[in-house]
Amino acid sequence: MDRWRFARAQQLLLLLLALHAQLVLAGKMKIVEEPNTFGLNNPFLPQINKLQPNMEPSPISGPSHLTRLAGKCFSFVESSYKYEFCPFHNVTQHEQTFRWNAYSGILGIWQEWAIENNTFVGMWMREGDSCGSKNRQTKVLLVCGRSNKLVHVSEPSTCIYSITFETPLVCHPHSLLVYPTLSASLQQKWDDVEQSFYDELITEQGYKKLLKTLFEEAGYLKPVAENAIEGLDKSNVTKFGSLGKCQEQYEELSKELKRLEDLLTQHGISHERRAGV
Ligand SMILES: *[C@@H]1O[C@H](CO)[C@@H](O)[C@H](O)[C@H]1NC(C)=O
Ligand SMILES: *[C@@H]1O[C@H](CO)[C@@H](O)[C@H](O)[C@H]1NC(C)=O
Ligand SMILES: *[C@@H]1O[C@H](CO)[C@@H](O)[C@H](O)[C@H]1NC(C)=O
Repeated sequence: MDRWRFARAQQLLLLLLALHAQLVLAGKMKIVEEPNTFGLNNPFLPQINKLQPNMEPSPISGPSHLTRLAGKCFSFVESSYKYEFCPFHNVTQHEQTFRWNAYSGILGIWQEWAIENNTFVGMWMREGDSCGSKNRQTKVLLVCGRSNKLVHVSEPSTCIYSITFETPLVCHPHSLLVYPTLSASLQQKWDDVEQSFYDELITEQGYKKLLKTLFEEAGYLKPVAENAIEGLDKSNVTKFGSLGKCQEQYEELSKELKRLEDLLTQHGISHERRAGV
């Protein structure tokens, strides 16, 4: 009888341990979804109010069916931090503690789309709180899932965060294509670019460059600072999009130069070629 009671007690203990382990695991991986609360039921509200964004978010853009995510926020608790993603607005991080000086910070403000292979893949949230000489930034990857929720947070390099957001809104294979979201005139432009590429009038590099410009025009990408392309006239760049075109232009210019030199010689005007010409 005692033996039986002992075995029974042992069983109970094991059961309790298993339950405890499950609760710990569940607690660690807790995923909280809070649409539309704007953090109002957050016990650390005073900290949140202290957050000072460096800039305004970009306008909402991209696939129209995703605009319904604007104004909502989704959070994810990992270790002692709560991460909050508000699509088309910001990503923030809040230390989960009752210390008076709990850390809260902005990991990025909505800036532009991440586009790969002519498909939207995620949202770039940049210009967050400073981190040494740079600002914190976060790439939010959009993946297909049964409900809207954050499922993963990591920091692949210092102060650059990667967050995975699951949503049923991106499950259709065409739901993230860029082309259907464009205006008729930009689609026409894209068709022309495809034609030029097909006809080998432009290189793959030229093709990518033209599409990037087109995505900038659509407001999906932020144009790089003007001074980065200083002195390069874009219309000329496209003319030299292929090596053949460049060779052609070079030969034409050489002929023209020869003609002008001959003209000068004819009129007895002295001239000399400068180095490199
Ligand atoms: C982040 O975005 C949410 C939702 O749009 C907004 O309510 C909140 O004020 C923003 N936080 C900061 C620090 O900008
Ligand atoms: C690019 O997208 C097309 C369809 O949109 C797909 O067939 C192709 O495999 C993709 N390529 C890469 C490198 O992802
Ligand atoms: C480059 O473009 C500018 C303005 O479009 C034009 O005036 C100039 O002649 C072009 N240069 C060449 C080498 O085509």
